[in-house]
Amino acid sequence: MMQPGIIDLPKIQDPRGNLSFFENGNLLPFDIKRTYWIYDVPGGEERGSHAFKESQEFVIALSGSFDVVLNDGENERVYSLNRSYYGLFIPKMFWRTLRNFSTNSLALIVSNIRYDKGDYIHDFKEFRKLCHEAK
Ligand code: TYD
Repeated sequence: MMQPGIIDLPKIQDPRGNLSFFENGNLLPFDIKRTYWIYDVPGGEERGSHAFKESQEFVIALSGSFDVVLNDGENERVYSLNRSYYGLFIPKMFWRTLRNFSTNSLALIVSNIRYDKGDYIHDFKEFRKLCHEAK
């Protein structure tokens, strides 16, 4: 099973301003099929709270900060994202919640699949059951 982890991105430092990037074929463990972003999150709100059967994601805090809480069915780990030159790789079958959004934070997320309603697991009990069956 693939494990989540922080992936450092190139940071091209320049007196005119810094530049970071990622592209298909390197840096990320999957090819990108979709990009979406989450913004204008009211104080105290949470996003996510579901898992994906097949979707893998890479999440970057392009602006501001937020926490990503990952649960593999047994253990929980919190990743704080607050820089635009690294991001969090989330393999499939991890329950994720995004929370503690700062004012004006911007979460950029890329996925290996196009949007598919059927890829979501919305029930934590069902998620845990599927995790145990997979072991
Ligand atoms: P959802 O994945 O539940 O958001 P989050 O996990 O960030 O809380 O998606 C919210 C709504 O947006 C839902 O109606 C589906 C829609 N949506 C798309 O149409 N395309 C997408 O790529 C995503 C991620 C969501």
